[in-house]
Amino acid sequence: MTIRWYPGHMGKAQEQMAEAIRRIDVIIEVLDARLPSSSSNHQLEEMHRNKPRIKVLNKNDLADPVVTRAWVRNFERESGVHALPLSAKQHSETKQLIKLCQRLAPNRGRPGWPLRAMVFGIPNVGKSTLINTLAGKCMAKVGDKPAITTCAQQIDLRNGIILSDTPGLLWPDMSDQIVAYRLATSGAIGASALDYTCVGLFAAEFMMQRYPELIREHYKLSELPDTAAAMLEAIGRRLGCLITGGGVDIHRASEAFLRELRAGKIGRVSFEEPDQEAVRMADAEEEAEKRDNA
Ligand code: G4P
Repeated sequence: MTIRWYPGHMGKAQEQMAEAIRRIDVIIEVLDARLPSSSSNHQLEEMHRNKPRIKVLNKNDLADPVVTRAWVRNFERESGVHALPLSAKQHSETKQLIKLCQRLAPNRGRPGWPLRAMVFGIPNVGKSTLINTLAGKCMAKVGDKPAITTCAQQIDLRNGIILSDTPGLLWPDMSDQIVAYRLATSGAIGASALDYTCVGLFAAEFMMQRYPELIREHYKLSELPDTAAAMLEAIGRRLGCLITGGGVDIHRASEAFLRELRAGKIGRVSFEEPDQEAVRMADAEEEAEKRDNA
């Protein structure tokens, strides 16, 4: 099944994003630590105007720590980029972000000369959570609109930093189906854009290949089934997702499995690794080039 999710008004949103970037000193891009490539947006790469960029690998509490370290090394090779894994819900962890902002704009942060920062990211990566934690107060959830609100307020963090209270909303690149399925698995794409059973099958296949022990232990399976469909059926039985007659309700099983996976109940899991991702993207580009030349 093809996942499609096309937002409108991209041109206007891009203009607003470019304007917002002109007015800030440090760009804070929030990525999901479990899928840092799929949760990024290449437009920001093209618009950063050589401003220092911090890639926050958020939801670090849910991601595989070994893989996250590999992503940090990978991002830190890029010029002007600093990577910081954290959990936006933890105030103590977000303090490192403040320190890093101050280090990256040493000439700012004085009276009359504040350090201006803004948070960017695709929906559901934790932008609002991060802003709320940094601001130390509860603010309204920002709607998922494809634009940067022009009447954005500024929050004085009282440490020389002024933060826009409205995040720059970016859209994920959904043209790559693997990216779309990973985003759906993580919960970044809402229910209307996906078929739970297809995403459940994708996630089951991934877990069987990459984290077989985690899934076996969590669902107390003596051995792993051979196929993703059999895996979902086994999970459905374990979770009591049954229909009359004793068969498994695969849709409900998928929903329950994805809920547990997203909440980190099965264990800390990352859906992509930097080296594999580079190889996969190069293959995809080569394929696209062949198609264009055919
Ligand atoms: P957004 O502004 O980028 O759209 O994301 P938002 O902050 O609304 O966060 C999306 C979901 O991710 C929320 O869960 C939020 O609690 C969760 N989240 C954000 N940061 C972290 C983190 O570091 N670790 C974990 N584990 N979760 C995080 P929700 O279920 O949609 O809302 P809620 O019930 O938690 O309020």
